[in-house]
Amino acid sequence: MSGSAYQGIIRRYRDALPIAEEHIVTLHEGNTPLLPAPQLAEQIFPGLDLYLKFEGLNPTGSFKDRGMTYAVSKAVEKGAQAIACASTGNTSAAAAAYGARAGLKVVVIIPAGKIALGKLSQALMHGAQVIQIEGNFDQALEIVRVLANESHCELVNSVNPNRLMGQQTAAFEICDYFAEAPQYHALPVGNAGNITAYWQGYETYFAQGKSTCKPQMLGFQAEGASPIVKGEIVKNPETVASAIRIGNPANWESALKVRDDSGGLIDAVTDTEILASYQLLARYAGYFAEPASAASVAGVVKLAQQGFFKAGDRVVCTLTGHGLKDPDNAIANSPQPQTLPADAKQVLSVIKL
Ligand code: F0G
Repeated sequence: MSGSAYQGIIRRYRDALPIAEEHIVTLHEGNTPLLPAPQLAEQIFPGLDLYLKFEGLNPTGSFKDRGMTYAVSKAVEKGAQAIACASTGNTSAAAAAYGARAGLKVVVIIPAGKIALGKLSQALMHGAQVIQIEGNFDQALEIVRVLANESHCELVNSVNPNRLMGQQTAAFEICDYFAEAPQYHALPVGNAGNITAYWQGYETYFAQGKSTCKPQMLGFQAEGASPIVKGEIVKNPETVASAIRIGNPANWESALKVRDDSGGLIDAVTDTEILASYQLLARYAGYFAEPASAASVAGVVKLAQQGFFKAGDRVVCTLTGHGLKDPDNAIANSPQPQTLPADAKQVLSVIKL
């Protein structure tokens, strides 16, 4: 392999992510597509300069890999033997994979029955100790904080600043691509780590003179799990977008600061709006993202309907996770396949071209 081949975000962005070479734990995450989506824009608001940052193409299928490579590398540097996290699914998949790569023990605590099938299969396959609690993500996070306080286990949720440092590289990639920051950046908000990390990345590039502007950050929560929008903790959050089923985000304060400092907004989208955008994305952009990811697009649709954008505005939507992680929702929200006898005449008779 050539010495210049792509080797993950830590080696790509060494200055922002300092660590000794021997401690780097990577699955060569990052360098994800930033795809122009004119056909999707046509459906939403003709003239919108719309791009999709498809984080579903990271090694474990979500943006969490960017944070996990740095958090796990730093844990290894410290000599940690174990890592732990609470998760709605993707963090646990990433922790399990990077922990396996590093030879660490991994403990993940998840809400029972509320994790998309693909994500659960990832945590199990990578050999993590998986504990399902009869409760929600917020309760799982409280428990894992106690575990981290009382043991030598490294907490790898987004309360760990190394996670955010790794995740900011998605903003670097976007600015490197355009040689500038976009006007707007839309993304789903759960625990609010990612919106914080992107803003950190945009601010860093601006301060270093690598961009001349910063985007307005547009964050979207699912209506049934929208504590930041409501201004109060949601005790029993509910949404089809299980990845962002969070009622008390750990990075709540910083999300408000990002909103205000960027001149952006944090709004809510309904499950119906999320599912409509989930399908729009698959049909008009060719990207299959999980429901939570579609919240970013649903938010842009909602704002477009309110007359928020003008023609030519450049908007980047982050698609945070791959659609294959959640086959149940994909199948439940699609027309079902027809079953027929193995007979050409009968098969051809139902095909409409
Ligand atoms: N999209 C997906 C697919 C996610 O998995 C998450 C969070 C988010 C968006 C929201 O990001 O929390 O930084 O605001 N998933 C976490 C997890 C909570 O445990 O996998 P956030």
